[in-house]
Amino acid sequence: MFKIDQSLSPHLIIFATTIHLIMQPKRYLVTSALPYANGLKHVGHLAGAYIPADIYVRYLRSQKRDVVFVCGSDEHGTAIPIQAMKEHTTAQAIIDKYHQAMKEDFADLNISFDIYHRTSDPLHHETAQEFFKYLHDRNELETKETEQYYDEASNTFLADRFIKGTCPNCKSDRAFGDQCETCGTALSPDELINPISTISGNTPIKKKTTHWYLPLAKHEQFLKDWILDQHKDDWRSSVVGQCKSWIDGGLQSRAVTRDLDWGIKVPLENAEGKVLYVWFDAPIGYISATKQWAIDHQKDWRPYWYDNDTQLVHFIGKDNIVFHCIIFPVMLKLHGNILPTNVPANEFLNLEGDKMSTSRNWKLEMRDFNQDFVKKENGGDQCVDMLRFYLTQIAPESKDSEFTWKGFQDAVNNELVAIFGNFVNRTFVLMHKLCGGKVPAYHAENEDKLDLQLKEDILSAKEKIETALEKYKFREALFEVIDLARKGNKYMQEKEPWIKAKSLAEHPSNQHLIDNCLYNCLQLTANLSILINPFLPSTSIKMCKMMKVVEQMLDWSNAGSMKLLSIGYTLREPQLLFRKIEDEEIDFQINKLKSAAMQASENINRDSPSPYLPLKPEITIDDFGKIDLRTGVILSAQKVPKADKLLQLEIDLGFEKRTILSGIAMHFTPEEVIGKKVIVVANLAPRKMRGIDSNGMILMAEDLNGKLHFASAGDLADGGWKVS
Ligand code: MF3
Ligand code: ZN
Repeated sequence: MFKIDQSLSPHLIIFATTIHLIMQPKRYLVTSALPYANGLKHVGHLAGAYIPADIYVRYLRSQKRDVVFVCGSDEHGTAIPIQAMKEHTTAQAIIDKYHQAMKEDFADLNISFDIYHRTSDPLHHETAQEFFKYLHDRNELETKETEQYYDEASNTFLADRFIKGTCPNCKSDRAFGDQCETCGTALSPDELINPISTISGNTPIKKKTTHWYLPLAKHEQFLKDWILDQHKDDWRSSVVGQCKSWIDGGLQSRAVTRDLDWGIKVPLENAEGKVLYVWFDAPIGYISATKQWAIDHQKDWRPYWYDNDTQLVHFIGKDNIVFHCIIFPVMLKLHGNILPTNVPANEFLNLEGDKMSTSRNWKLEMRDFNQDFVKKENGGDQCVDMLRFYLTQIAPESKDSEFTWKGFQDAVNNELVAIFGNFVNRTFVLMHKLCGGKVPAYHAENEDKLDLQLKEDILSAKEKIETALEKYKFREALFEVIDLARKGNKYMQEKEPWIKAKSLAEHPSNQHLIDNCLYNCLQLTANLSILINPFLPSTSIKMCKMMKVVEQMLDWSNAGSMKLLSIGYTLREPQLLFRKIEDEEIDFQINKLKSAAMQASENINRDSPSPYLPLKPEITIDDFGKIDLRTGVILSAQKVPKADKLLQLEIDLGFEKRTILSGIAMHFTPEEVIGKKVIVVANLAPRKMRGIDSNGMILMAEDLNGKLHFASAGDLADGGWKVS
């Protein structure tokens, strides 16, 4: 059906192939930033780290190169328990919910990961722990004792986003322990003005704690040589620039552990309550995902991370640059792995004149687009391609760019419909009308300058697209595809086969000219289906169906050929590739955006900070079974000298009387509590406080104002009953 174009000199082909073989790496590992499983992702994320990666990977696959595309959910860090707090549920429930949702959303937009893994997977925990141990055992980590903010109400150290305050830079009060939401400055908790705990709303105290650090300063020379010298020309200047300012600013040791009960346990003795910092474990997720993919496909994962002939490419947003270009590479180097070949980071995508923001609800979620466009209509996958098209066209490759609904409409109506779709449609309609629905013969003797020019245009477009894609210039590559379709329209306009058809009776030789024109337009259509495939995969498949060819034709090496469709072959009726976007759809979306944002601003004051304590990690029924709860009655109570908070209680458990010290003195006088029925943790190990042995604990509940109440023992009259 489709053959290699014989018109190319065979010598030239061999020469070109050899060069390609010499220059081509053996394999590619392509990664997209692992999104946090704390919420749905918006089109800014999509444009930054997922669509460009998907285009790149589809392009490589169409060249039959060995490529694995990995991603997965980032399920650790404070972002997860904080979201759990907001949704009044457990961290586990949050990651399960958003992992599933994000996976579906990516699939709906045809992001073709070879694996979408998750960092809560045991394989990942093992991999990350091994990594940490490896660095630790080789003395590549330091330990340091520092004072960190601690929330007494919840007995927790306040890592990163658990601490909120005023930004020292822009004075906004939407600043967190790691970053200011308003101006984006990277912060450390100590820099916050008026720090408060997002858990309790209280002012935290300082408490000593020990952590492991990655001493980046030791690797300064390596980073300088590797980034500022070796990669100064082939990495994006914004990426090199950011790295340079980090390096010039002096590389500080970075803590790679946290005091948190959600995360991967530090695999050492004496590390109770400590987990790996999320930014230590998450990028290792790329490795665990590769391992899982290899298990699933009976492949060896090692070459992808150890063989220098692997091209490792990380697609990310600009807020992730330091982690992917400085910290993770140092970790990889120390661990004996390969380093990334390139880190094509994107800038940010704004929306309708403002920054996208989840808290202000100024965003377009992938899920919303899918619901409003893709799933609403038959053949909704054309809408997937419309979004992929627009997001690639405005990709924030070198500076921030902007999504507007009007821009979306214009891109679809003026380019996809009016240029690309129109060319393909006209070609098919005319071929049915003037050539009997078949690929016409080609009459070489009638070939003219325009025909030759068109052939040349196809070859040069292919080359330009390749060059742009290999340099991660996706906007430019897409422009070249559309430009080729534009040239097709122009060619047809100049050839005017419909005019020639009118005078066919007087000039029978016109048939040759008509044939040649449509032959070329059909070959161009076939070429366009190959060239557009990495960007708009559903469109290519639709075109294959119209041309009645198998999808293998989309193999990149076929592009440039003028013999993809055989003479005499019958083709299907034309089918519109894209519909127009109507004004009403755009108005609807703009109104929706504005009212959602209005709603959010009304909620914002009511909601923050959440007064509820986060739930602790899930336990099993067996864990619970270890606790022996009994009912009891308070017989007597007295203050403990020199202890403001403690009451000394004597409690009747039926089978025995006990002394229990309880921290309720700020809330109740001794007289108030005598006779109260309480629930007692009866098998708690005794503990001495202020010289008095306390034998157990009574259960109390704290209301939203922090006031204590007796956890009711209901109508139980006697002590000693088992509570379960
Ligand atoms: N979850 C991070 C974010 O959304 C990205 C993690 S990328 C990885 O910003 F390399 F750490 F996986
Ligand atoms: Zn700020």
